[in-house]
Amino acid sequence: MKRLMLIAVLTLLASGSLGLAADVVGIRGATPLDREPRAPALPREVTDDRRQMRNYPEQPPVIPHSIRDYQIDLNSNKCLSCHARGRTGESQAPMISITHFMDRDDQVLASVTPRRYFCTQCHVQQTVVQPPVPNTFKDIDEVMAESRAKPPSQQRRP
Ligand code: HEC
Ligand code: HEC
Repeated sequence: MKRLMLIAVLTLLASGSLGLAADVVGIRGATPLDREPRAPALPREVTDDRRQMRNYPEQPPVIPHSIRDYQIDLNSNKCLSCHARGRTGESQAPMISITHFMDRDDQVLASVTPRRYFCTQCHVQQTVVQPPVPNTFKDIDEVMAESRAKPPSQQRRP
């Protein structure tokens, strides 16, 4: 009896998932899995030179200017030609912050630490696109405001 029930459940599950697979349209669109969809056009870059608010204090700020063809390799780093301490007087770019001078033992080096050398590992540009997945992130101010609106027993303590 138990075995029969198990078979029944498995059959149901299998037919359910097969049915689903045919209907699902993921963010890649309706193109069958064994075919390449057409690549969308390159989106417009945000290059308005306005520094964006950070969503939380530890966030690497996003890049508000164009970085097209800016080389970063063993011999040269275009970003540092403006953001290095010695260049900021001329460039008026914000200096890389103190964390960018610290090695993994928190020793402050004379210039950028190797682990912060490849800037675009953390800092990215923004583009004008409709995100395929909606983002429900709330920053801490919103979370606190919502909490304060609740009765005291349900409020979060910071
Ligand atoms: C020609 C000089 C120049 C170069 C090269 C340059 N930047 Fe900038 N960057 C600036 C200036 C000036 C600003 C201030 C905002 C503005 O004017 O765009 C800035 C702003 C930024 C910010 C925003 C900082 C904040 O607090 O919001 C980031 C991040 C940044 N740059 C990263 C980079 C990276 C990564 C590269 C290399 C891929 C790079 N920059 C190359 C001049 C430069
Ligand atoms: C491993 C990640 C990482 C890498 C690599 C990195 N950064 Fe950052 N950057 C951050 C984070 C996180 C912050 C914000 C907190 C902080 O200052 O540490 C930041 C902050 C900044 C700021 C704002 C400083 C300020 O005081 O407002 C600038 C400008 C910047 N980075 C430029 C650069 C440049 C140029 C490079 C490459 C030489 C680089 N970063 C490499 C993570 C990174």
